Amino acid sequence: MPRATYSFPNDFLWGTATAAHQVEGNNTNNDWWAWEQGEGHIKNGDKSGKACDWWNGRRWSEDFDRAAATHQNSHRFSIEWSRVQPEPDRWDEATLDRYREMLLGLKERGMNAMLTLHHFSSPIWFAEMGGWESDQAVALFNAFVRRTVEALKAHCNLWVPINEPNVYGMAGFVWGDFPPGKHDLKTGLKVIANMAKGHAAAYQTIHELQSDALVGTAINWRDFVPGDANPLSNVVVNRLHKAYNDAFTTAMVTGKFDAIYYKEDMPEAKGAQDFVGLNYYTRDYVKFNLSKPNYAENFYRKDAERSYTGFLANEPDGFRKCIRWGGQFGLPIYITENGWDDPKDDTRRIYLLDHLLAMWHEVNNNLPVKGYYHWSLVDNFEWERGWTQRFGLWGLDPATQQRVRRPSVDLYSEVCRTNSISSEAVEKWAPECYKRIFPD
Ligand code: BGC
Repeated sequence: MPRATYSFPNDFLWGTATAAHQVEGNNTNNDWWAWEQGEGHIKNGDKSGKACDWWNGRRWSEDFDRAAATHQNSHRFSIEWSRVQPEPDRWDEATLDRYREMLLGLKERGMNAMLTLHHFSSPIWFAEMGGWESDQAVALFNAFVRRTVEALKAHCNLWVPINEPNVYGMAGFVWGDFPPGKHDLKTGLKVIANMAKGHAAAYQTIHELQSDALVGTAINWRDFVPGDANPLSNVVVNRLHKAYNDAFTTAMVTGKFDAIYYKEDMPEAKGAQDFVGLNYYTRDYVKFNLSKPNYAENFYRKDAERSYTGFLANEPDGFRKCIRWGGQFGLPIYITENGWDDPKDDTRRIYLLDHLLAMWHEVNNNLPVKGYYHWSLVDNFEWERGWTQRFGLWGLDPATQQRVRRPSVDLYSEVCRTNSISSEAVEKWAPECYKRIFPD
């Protein structure tokens, strides 16, 4: 059996990512809570409810203990805007104190933080004013950013203003899965463009307030590849790639948002990123099909390993492409999310090792990857999929709040502790993957 160690660069950040609405519980003042009450919006009629009880029960503390005890040195989490600014003219200082406490909690545990300022949920008052479709959105968001960063800047300097603007725009305004449940491509792309302007404004504000701030994007990057030999499939793939993967981050270089069906000049976005954040989960094969929206029929490779619910396919080569794509910007890269739904933890270790090894290869192609955040620390509320998908290293029973440590924890802990993937760790914690990770 070959023996080897794949080592990562010094000071690499290893952690997990979470989002406020998915873990805090009782976020009754945002558009997601309202959306959950509507018939047919969430699988099985599930509700976020107490979620992981991070807010009322302050269970962030025990979960941060778990992260720290398993050698994670960073955590990415998000600030719930509707708590900080419950009404347009009211700021809740006690909420900011709470978030400060969480940041200090990480510090005390020897961990640092990456903070997301918008992760899919918005205050109800903001949604009622037109949300991200409205021309006022950028200024309203920026006021929240200013207040929040002012309050928390002593304890964090890694900021992601907006999580996955491309998913937000598509899921809320084109596919109809997220609030406000619309179905209009142009509106969805306009929302993403508005978010690009929101990001650019936040970038300026954060730098004004904090000299050592690092502000980055976190798009959802999907590897689109042609699903057949039809040249039109290639055309569709290129268009999808440009509109979905490219448009937002490229606007931060060119000052022009170009998602093919919607374009807008935004010179203020030029240069508005210090790092590129990448959320990578899977790859789509795409065929030209006249009867599908935008002529694209998406599917997974037939023989690809699938996650428990079939939601994801294990395609680590797509992750390598994603990182190489991120390299074109000449900036540090963070893997802001990567994960797999698997309640039984049968295949998570395979997915994890495949992706960590893919990342290691690209690090050794000189791509400046600085950190990796696994999605997620503990099972949490999976949006329109409710509790049907389990992405946590720890399992959760939301009714009893009991956590169950899944076997993947031991493997990931060893990776974080040694800053490497070693034969010893794989042999001990994921022997079924040994041959795949250390081939003869
Ligand atoms: C989102 C997370 C979500 C994860 C898994 C990402 O697109 O940023 O909030 O939980 O996917 O579904």
